Amino acid sequence: MAPGNGASIRITTDSDWIELERLIFSLFPHAAPTNGSNDAYFAAETLKDGFVGFAHVRIFQSHLLLQGISVIPSMRKKGLGKELLDFAASWASDNFPGKPLKLAVDAGNAPAISLYLKDGFMVSKDEGGHLELSKPEPS
Ligand SMILES: CC(C)(COP(=O)(O)OP(=O)(O)OC[C@H]1O[C@@H](n2cnc3c(N)ncnc32)[C@H](O)[C@@H]1OP(=O)(O)O)[C@@H](O)C(=O)NCCC(=O)NCCS
Repeated sequence: MAPGNGASIRITTDSDWIELERLIFSLFPHAAPTNGSNDAYFAAETLKDGFVGFAHVRIFQSHLLLQGISVIPSMRKKGLGKELLDFAASWASDNFPGKPLKLAVDAGNAPAISLYLKDGFMVSKDEGGHLELSKPEPS
């Protein structure tokens, strides 16, 4: 648990899916979250409120994709987004060494872009309203 936000981060299991899906729909009402063998989910949870944030990584042949990351509004700006991102990125490099971690983000999403750039992601494609970023493997 990190000081300040009272939450801990862990990888989720199938038994978390109902709570996780509820959280995802509350944050992204139009989402169609997948939960197959190529999906890994990470949750931030507190004793009081249960899941308060999540990150979703999809596993592809050539790369890993950070499909989504979000924190409930009342818990934002407390370091949880960075903790979720770091947890997901270190799971990715431990389990799929050498496979790049990529993501796509709307060019207007300043909080998310700032989070990703500070965390070492670099813009690999800029298509106007849409950016693609990837994280180089540490050498
Ligand atoms: C993006 C998001 C996950 C960040 O979560 P968070 O817990 O608030 O982020 P943190 O507190 O860990 O902040 C880490 C960094 O993110 C950036 N950041 C977070 N909120 C920000 C804001 N409102 N404005 C600008 N930068 C912001 C900052 O660089 C921050 O570092 P700092 O604290 O040193 O300034 C959160 O804003 C969110 O859930 N947004 C809605 C969903 C979304 O857009 N997800 C990404 C696309 S799928």
